[in-house]
Amino acid sequence: MPSPNTFLLLPFLLFMTSPSLSLPPALVAPISKDHSTLLYSLSLYLKTPLQPTKLHLDLGAAFTWLDCTKPYYNSSTYLHVPCGSPLCDSLHSFACGNCYEPPGPHCANDTCSLYPENPVSGKATLDNALLDALALHTTDGSAPGRLALLPQFAFSCSTSSLLKGLAKKVNGLVALGRSNHSLPAQVSTALSLPHYFALCLSGSVNASGAAFFGSKGPYIFNKIDVSKSLIYTPLVLNPVTRTVVKYGPSDEYFIGLTAIKVNGKTVPLNNTLLSIDRDSGFGGTTLTTDAPYTVMETSIFKAFVELFVRESSALNLTRTNVVKPFGVCYLATDIVSTRAGPAVPTVDLVMEREDVIWRILGSNSMVKISKKGGVELWCLGFVDGGAKPRSSIMIGGHHMEDNLLQFDLESKRFGFSSSVLLQGTKCADFNFASAKVNL
Ligand SMILES: *[C@@H]1O[C@H](CO)[C@@H](O)[C@H](O)[C@H]1NC(C)=O
Ligand SMILES: *[C@@H]1O[C@H](CO)[C@@H](O)[C@H](O)[C@H]1NC(C)=O
Ligand SMILES: *[C@@H]1O[C@H](CO)[C@@H](O)[C@H](O)[C@H]1NC(C)=O
Ligand SMILES: *[C@@H]1O[C@H](CO)[C@@H](O)[C@H](O)[C@H]1NC(C)=O
Ligand SMILES: *[C@@H]1O[C@H](CO)[C@@H](O)[C@H](O)[C@H]1NC(C)=O
Ligand SMILES: *[C@@H]1O[C@H](CO)[C@@H](O)[C@H](O)[C@H]1NC(C)=O
Repeated sequence: MPSPNTFLLLPFLLFMTSPSLSLPPALVAPISKDHSTLLYSLSLYLKTPLQPTKLHLDLGAAFTWLDCTKPYYNSSTYLHVPCGSPLCDSLHSFACGNCYEPPGPHCANDTCSLYPENPVSGKATLDNALLDALALHTTDGSAPGRLALLPQFAFSCSTSSLLKGLAKKVNGLVALGRSNHSLPAQVSTALSLPHYFALCLSGSVNASGAAFFGSKGPYIFNKIDVSKSLIYTPLVLNPVTRTVVKYGPSDEYFIGLTAIKVNGKTVPLNNTLLSIDRDSGFGGTTLTTDAPYTVMETSIFKAFVELFVRESSALNLTRTNVVKPFGVCYLATDIVSTRAGPAVPTVDLVMEREDVIWRILGSNSMVKISKKGGVELWCLGFVDGGAKPRSSIMIGGHHMEDNLLQFDLESKRFGFSSSVLLQGTKCADFNFASAKVNL
């Protein structure tokens, strides 16, 4: 029986034809942060000839999509996916497209149609699936090497209008979700690599972080292998998708948060909100790169801020006028700096056991704001998500920066390092400079 992966076995052959090599050890790509939207993008190579491309990094999406309109789409190797083919079925296609314009990446008959979505604007369109070349740098964990090619990477087309709300330089979205068609899944399947990927988001808009695909480690930043310091918690399945078209479980990564502590004291909260309602998919704690800051359901947010403020007053910190979207800000001059940011009460995210804790220090809990006149503030980097958000806690980008996050899709578990700043390194320390990498 033909399987969807038949398409993906081709790169294997490609590697066999090169004389000196076996399979690549792992792949790596730079992640940059946009200073205006505060969203992240992954840099990779697409099409033939290969073109450096930036795509919005989305941890919860099922499939990648990119603008296929002229003149952006220029490639000699794209292929359409026929309706009813195993690949089309496995992509959960609900429509078959026909087109009466000149044939091109965007226009074919009997072509598999998908609903690419923009998670920031909430907009979706109907467009066709496509296969084309994708390449990423190989790595031994410490530096980028030559490119590895997937000749037939599957994704969806979109139009330029779907890009609204994303960072200016991106040309689409790269999906890192749980699905069989996310970038990590296609890379691992095509190149027979472990079904693992890892992210290290940089805390600076001026320096790139790194994503590793098909690798359990090492992940080396400034000579330090941060894969050595991971703590694991099971990934939790949300049975209901967040997407417009409902077809099964969510492609987002949820974790089993059971409590939040501030300086070791438990935030009083309604535990029902921490579990996922199996009919609606509401509740629970997810990880998102679509929001710059962690978003909490109103009652959780209020209880958390109240305890944080109480614990901070014990440190004699002066609350000052807040800066949107934050609820609490302090004068930076009142706060001592440490290796891992301002010295503020520690926030612990407690998972399935009391000793499985994701510790959040000042560099991840607080955001530095420079006001006119040279006044500097540290604001608590959490925002109120309203009374009925889909997920009760959405751990956002700032919170994950300078932490190594590993997604082990074989054992369905999530590994986190807490701040690597404590180890004397940072996510911007991956040695991209040693090779010609388009950042
Ligand atoms: C598309 O590619 C062709 C052949 O490589 C080239 O001649 C043409 O200028 C390209 N067009 C754009 C818009 O990049
Ligand atoms: C699709 O089929 C119709 C009807 O046969 C034809 O007019 C049209 O040109 C075809 N479109 C493409 C892109 O081949
Ligand atoms: C993903 O692939 C696996 C193995 O081929 C298969 O068992 C599973 O049903 C697929 N999942 C989806 C959502 O298609
Ligand atoms: C980034 O670079 C710009 C210009 O080079 C500089 O003004 C800014 O302070 C830098 N930001 C950070 C966070 O380093
Ligand atoms: C806890 O949250 C659930 C889900 O929103 C709600 O139905 C319930 O009434 C809440 N319980 C309390 C005591 O507020
Ligand atoms: C806070 O201020 C009070 C009164 O000035 C002082 O006694 C206390 O030591 C201060 N605490 C800290 C942590 O600085």
